[in-house]
Amino acid sequence: MDKIRIRGGARLNGEIPISGAKNAALPLMVAALLTDAPLTLTNVPKLADVAFMADLLRHFGVTAEWTPEAALGQGGRYELCAADLTGTTADYDIVRKMRASFLVFGPLLARAGHAKVSLPGGCAIGARPVDLHLKALEALGAKVELADGYVIAEAPGGLKGANIAFPFVSVGATENALMAATLAEGRTVISNAAREPEIDDLGRCLTAMGARISGLGTSSIVVDGVKSLHAAAHAVLPDRIETGTYAMAVAIAGGAVELTGTRADLVGALIPLLKEAGTDVTATNNGLMVARNGVRPTSVSAATEPFPGFPTDLQAQFMALMATAEGTSHIRETIFENRFMHVPELLRMGANIKVDGDTAIVTGVPRLNGAPVMATDLRASSSLVLAGLAAEGETVVNRVYHLDRGFERLEEKLSRVGADIERLPV
Ligand code: EPZ
Repeated sequence: MDKIRIRGGARLNGEIPISGAKNAALPLMVAALLTDAPLTLTNVPKLADVAFMADLLRHFGVTAEWTPEAALGQGGRYELCAADLTGTTADYDIVRKMRASFLVFGPLLARAGHAKVSLPGGCAIGARPVDLHLKALEALGAKVELADGYVIAEAPGGLKGANIAFPFVSVGATENALMAATLAEGRTVISNAAREPEIDDLGRCLTAMGARISGLGTSSIVVDGVKSLHAAAHAVLPDRIETGTYAMAVAIAGGAVELTGTRADLVGALIPLLKEAGTDVTATNNGLMVARNGVRPTSVSAATEPFPGFPTDLQAQFMALMATAEGTSHIRETIFENRFMHVPELLRMGANIKVDGDTAIVTGVPRLNGAPVMATDLRASSSLVLAGLAAEGETVVNRVYHLDRGFERLEEKLSRVGADIERLPV
């Protein structure tokens, strides 16, 4: 497996193009299952998870043709068409590799009237059950049973609109319910819906396909079911996690970088934290300008929350930044119960972090030290890259496979702005 080597200390200057969002692209690709007409997606990032989702869809008889774009950060195009569904089973071997595979559950049921999808099981960042997804589909009239590790569901007479009230916010369950409801008979009201921009993006694409949806971006989404959806084209929104990660790369390494093709409102909860920590962040016509010169970052505390709060997918990167800041920061993780796997690796780089339940207490050190490190999820891996940018000496991040799942050409984007970073193929 490839490794990434970073020699710390270089400041970053220039421009980083931001790619389309992985967590928008995955459900958008799944939406192709809802219609026999073509769905064209542009600004799709070239990532392992995206290729994996295309393979999963092909498994159901979907044609998925990829056209790459030459320029860095521009994304490619997927032409997807589910003219004939040839299967409705997603095997364990597929779902265990990528939890987002479970998003096919609602669309398969809505389109074909049945679905058999492996239960995903736990993953490195926590137990991550799918009970809310199942309850939502049951509310829409599906008969759901669990057998041999699979969820088997039938809706022979079609799904029926219903009130779905989630007890807490789930991005994936909201997406599953939203997609299924587009073809359900009558009105569905999803209360306590997730408000993540990726849901808004999915809703816009579904609307372009002929779905009748209101309340996008709020916690109450109303869907009036239609008989069928039609062809559409949609551009994937910019990746807010990639935006936040590179903003923090500049905050930790110093320098001035414009993040292009992105938007300030996507990282609204991060900007005040970065400013408080001593980084300048300003919106530009093309995206965001991020700069830090001279002084060491100062400590700021943060807690993860559903959107519009501070995202769990930026928590590890923020901890790397705080590990070098002046003072002590409390970082609380409220979404996943096991999302501090980066802590032992940061400790090996000389960080001073104590974990107390759901809170990491981070006392910044003036300089981290390079070390060989490894992480078991993609955001944690990116935090180790950030730590490596600020560390003295050489950091080698192992298991780059995780980074390739969610960051398009990371080492190329960072080396273009002056980081001393390279991929070491094995
Ligand atoms: C999405 O995962 C993202 N994945 C995650 O990004 C992200 O961390 C997460 O949302 C939170 O923002 C994709 O969009 C593909 P949830 P999802 O359902 O939908 C619990 C990354 O690094 N829960 O909002 O799986 C769950 O265990 C990834 O790109 C239930 O208990 O997240 C968690 O504690 C990692 N029952 C909380 O809810 C359910 O049925 C929020 O999870 C569903 C969720």
